[in-house]
Amino acid sequence: MYRPGTIQSRSHIGWLLVACAWLGTMPGCDAPIASFKPNWLYAKRMEMTGAAEMAPAVEDAHTALTRLFGKPDDPKWPKFLLEDESLASLVDVDRLRRAAGPVSSDEAGVHYGLYREHCMACHGVTGNGRGPTSRFLNPYPRDFRLGKFKFKATPIGSKPTRLDLERILRDGIVGTSMPSFGLLNEEDLQALIDYVIYLSVRGEVERRLLAEAAFEIDLEAGDRLFDAALEEDDPEAFALQWQTIEDHVVDTVRSWAAAPSQVTEVDGPPVDYPLFGRDNAAELPQRERLAASIANGRRLYQGQVAGCAQCHGATAMGDGQTNDFDQWTKDWTTLAGIDPKDKAELAPMLALGALRPRNIAPRNLRRGIYRGGSRPIDLYFRIVNGIDGTSMPAAPMRPDNPLGMTEDEVWDLVNYLLSLPYEHLAPESTGVVTSAGKTR
Ligand code: HEC
Ligand code: HEC
Repeated sequence: MYRPGTIQSRSHIGWLLVACAWLGTMPGCDAPIASFKPNWLYAKRMEMTGAAEMAPAVEDAHTALTRLFGKPDDPKWPKFLLEDESLASLVDVDRLRRAAGPVSSDEAGVHYGLYREHCMACHGVTGNGRGPTSRFLNPYPRDFRLGKFKFKATPIGSKPTRLDLERILRDGIVGTSMPSFGLLNEEDLQALIDYVIYLSVRGEVERRLLAEAAFEIDLEAGDRLFDAALEEDDPEAFALQWQTIEDHVVDTVRSWAAAPSQVTEVDGPPVDYPLFGRDNAAELPQRERLAASIANGRRLYQGQVAGCAQCHGATAMGDGQTNDFDQWTKDWTTLAGIDPKDKAELAPMLALGALRPRNIAPRNLRRGIYRGGSRPIDLYFRIVNGIDGTSMPAAPMRPDNPLGMTEDEVWDLVNYLLSLPYEHLAPESTGVVTSAGKTR
């Protein structure tokens, strides 16, 4: 007898079971996670740029990485790093253990699983910036595996210092979904910094190993990046392979260890230098100096040397050059010969988990919202160091560049930036006519 109600409810239960089974395979905050997923996207890029079939190399790299860095529930830090004093202190294994693994706390109230609790939903298990929430966010969460960080006191191409990462965690990134973790206790915060460095080093070593396999060894002839079976059969051949892998680890870790010595030197604004926000209501001569500094900043902003208007627009509303992409996107589009706007070309990359490319817009500087911090020194660093991973370049500086700016001129630009949200956009203030013919 046909009983629609029963069939319907049965089918509901069926779907529920399917959904539960599927959800059961999804890593929850407190579920164990067996392993890190390989970087198939980068392997695909290698194939598209002429390498042989990468699957065997991806597997070898994965085995090597597991030996070196362990698993999400059982992280390791390569032992040979401990032999070099300058590299040994970068990451502390006890702190790593606190940040890794499932969420829990022990009898003494120590927290574990901090990364899974606070970061994974956005930054993903491997730190690939593709956690379950990521595709709904703009900008996307950072993919740590490229080893590129935006907001730091070091120049483009350098790593951030621990202090830079600490600031990001304490303050969050204003104007994005990256929250502030300022209320976490000091030990938890430091453990998370170690874990970000760990994921970044691991991810960068993986990229280096895949590039090594693609371009330095003959994959087609069956050569291996790393063959664990050789360890017993042919220890010498094994040692040779393993040494190459260790060299990549050391190079990557060295770049992190070098960061504190690469911090851009700046003494702060000269004593008595007028600063917007501090000296707006100062005595007259100082107020006049401030007005002159802002006017000079405006001149520099519009000029050829600093070149800010070219991207941020003559009105500073972020409407100059707006069709560029960031380097996390270019990593697998432009560099693999893919047009980020071509849907058919993108499809295989999206299938591998890539997030849809989005333009990187120059900031509207009239809002006064600065992701990397709004202290004068933060803006100074942004101008002098540029923003790594984006099109924002480091400003040309004297004496390295005889046509570049002086430190004082950068402080003038900082004053202009700080004054922008308060500047009237009347025609006489900018004299700028937009492409639509209207005066803004
Ligand atoms: C709700 C989503 C979200 C959560 C949760 C989150 N982040 Fe982020 N995070 C972001 C976004 C988005 C960015 C990129 C902002 C940008 O590109 O300007 C980012 C960027 C970063 C950066 C890069 C900063 C730089 O200078 O490039 C670090 C480091 C970072 N997050 C660490 C963490 C850590 C550690 C946690 C957990 C304690 C965490 N994030 C939790 C969204 C999140
Ligand atoms: C080639 C394009 C380009 C040029 C030239 C350029 N910028 Fe940018 N700028 C950008 C982009 C893109 C961003 C957004 C980066 C991001 O998403 O974090 C940005 C962001 C900024 C920010 C925001 C920083 C923060 O913490 O949020 C400031 C301030 C800024 N630029 C100032 C300047 C100044 C001053 C100049 C001239 C010395 C300049 N820019 C030149 C592209 C450019």
